[in-house]
Amino acid sequence: MHIPLRRLLQSRSNRLYLRRFQRSLIIVGLGLWLNRLHADVPTGSLSSAKKYYKSLSEKLNYSTPDKVSQTTLTDLAAYLGYTNLTSTNLEYDDPEVLMGLGADRADVLASRFFAPKIMNVKFKEGDKDFRLGWRKLVRLRSQVGSPAKSNSIVAAVILFNTFTSQGAIPFARSNESVNTQVMLLPDPDKIRRPPPQKDNDATMDSAYWLDYQNLSSGGRLGYALNASFDANELSGVGNKDYFVPEGCVACHGLNPQRPLLNFLDTDHWFDRLENDFQKLKDSGLALLFDAGTNDPDSPKYRQAFDIIAKFNLEADKHAKQAQPFHDETLASAKWQELHSTNFAHLPPIQRAIGPSPQWNKNEKNVLNTMNQYCYRCHGTVKFSVFNRTNTFNRRALIVGSLAVNAKVGIKMPPDRDLPDDKREQLVNFFKSFSK
Ligand code: HEC
Ligand code: HEC
Repeated sequence: MHIPLRRLLQSRSNRLYLRRFQRSLIIVGLGLWLNRLHADVPTGSLSSAKKYYKSLSEKLNYSTPDKVSQTTLTDLAAYLGYTNLTSTNLEYDDPEVLMGLGADRADVLASRFFAPKIMNVKFKEGDKDFRLGWRKLVRLRSQVGSPAKSNSIVAAVILFNTFTSQGAIPFARSNESVNTQVMLLPDPDKIRRPPPQKDNDATMDSAYWLDYQNLSSGGRLGYALNASFDANELSGVGNKDYFVPEGCVACHGLNPQRPLLNFLDTDHWFDRLENDFQKLKDSGLALLFDAGTNDPDSPKYRQAFDIIAKFNLEADKHAKQAQPFHDETLASAKWQELHSTNFAHLPPIQRAIGPSPQWNKNEKNVLNTMNQYCYRCHGTVKFSVFNRTNTFNRRALIVGSLAVNAKVGIKMPPDRDLPDDKREQLVNFFKSFSK
C-alpha cells in the first residue's frame, strides 16, 4: 500500500522513527567516508589474481588457463615471436644487444635507470638496510606471425627490479631482479573506448598484467609484487604483497579496464639527488645507467636519454588514449613539451600541470616537499601533487592526513616518517591555502 510521506510524518512515533533512521544514515555515511579515506595502496587478493591469469590466458591465448602459472619470461618472449630469447638474456643482456634482436631495429627498446619509486624510504642513506633501487625496462614489439600478434597484442613492456647497497655497481649479474613486472599492450583499435562512446568490436583492456618471480627460484609467474609502499605502517622490513591486477592498476590510472602506461620521469630521479640521496649524487653513479654519466651534454647521455624519450612518446600516446584527462596523462604531456629538445633536468616548479592557477614560484618549496614525500604515490594515486587545483580541492583532507595522531590508514605518508619541520611547513600552508 502506498502511504504519502506527509501522512507518515503526521504521526509522532513515525517522526521519531524517521529521525532515528536519519541519524543512522549519517553514521553509516560517516563510516563509508572514513572507509574511503583508508589509505593503503589497494592490494587485491590471491584468489582474484588466480582468476585473472586464467581469464587472461584464455582471452590472449597465452599458454593455457591450467598451465599459465608455469610460464616464464622465455615463454613470454616466444609468445611475442622472439624464439631464441631466454629469461636470462632478457634480464642480463646489454640493452645494445637486446635492441638488435627484432626484425626491425625499432622492435626492441631497452634502458636501465635509477628507480627511487621502488625504494624502501623508511631507511636513509647510511642505514644498514638502505638499498638503492634500479630498473631495467625492455619493450618488445610482437613479431609478424607470432601468437601475440594474432591475438591483437602489439607489444610487451618488461620491467626488472633490482636493489644494491650503497657503493655497489648496479646490474651486476649476481644481482637478480627480485620480481619482474609485465604489461601486455593490445592493438589500440581493439581497446574499449571510454564512455559515452560505444564500440562493440573493441573488447580489450588497455593493458594486461603479469608478474614473474626471480630467476633463481625458477622465474615462473607469480601473483603479486612484494613492495614497500606502506612500509612505515608495517613491522619488519615493511614489504607486503600487491596482487595483479588490482594492486597494479592502483598506480596505473586506477581503472581496471583502461589502465595506462606511466612515463619514465627522468626529472624526478634527478630531483631526489638534491634531497634524500646526496651520497648517491657524490658517488657520481649515472642515473641513466647506460649513459655512464649524468652530464646531459655528453653524447652517451643523449643516446641513453633518446631511448627513454622514445619509450615516453609511446607511453604518452597510450595514456592519452586510455585516460586523456588523468593527472598522469597531463604530466606525461608536460614531459613531452619540456623535453622535446631539452635533455637537461628541470625543477618541479617548471613541471606543474592542470588548470590555472598552477603552482607559482612563491609556492615552490611546498611543491618540492610534496615531490619528495608524496609524489611516489600522488603522481598517480587519486591526484597528482603537481596539479594545484586537485591539491587545493583536498586541502582539508591533507591537513587531516598530516596530524601526528592521525590513524594508520589515514596518516600520510604511509611509507616513512615525515620530519617535524616538513609537517609544519605543509600544515601551515594548507591551513591558509587559498585559490
Ligand atoms: C605504487 C605505485 C605502483 C604500483 C603499485 C605498480 N606500479 Fe607499475 N609503475 C609505477 C611507476 C611510477 C612506473 C614508472 C617507472 C618508474 O617510475 O620507476 C611503473 C612502471 C611499470 C611498468 C613499465 C611500463 C610503464 O608503465 O612505465 C610495468 C610493466 C609495470 N609498472 C607493471 C606493474 C605491475 C605488473 C604491477 C602490479 C604487480 C605494478 N606495476 C604496480 C607505479 C606502480
Ligand atoms: C606510498 C604511497 C603514498 C604516499 C607516499 C603518500 N600517500 Fe597519500 N594516499 C595513498 C593512498 C593509497 C591513498 C588512498 C587512496 C584511496 O582512498 O583509494 C592516499 C590518500 C590520500 C589522501 C586522500 C585523498 C582523497 O581524495 O581521498 C590525501 C589527502 C593524501 N593521501 C595526502 C598525502 C600527502 C600530503 C602525502 C605526502 C606528505 C601523501 N599522501 C603521501 C598513498 C600515499
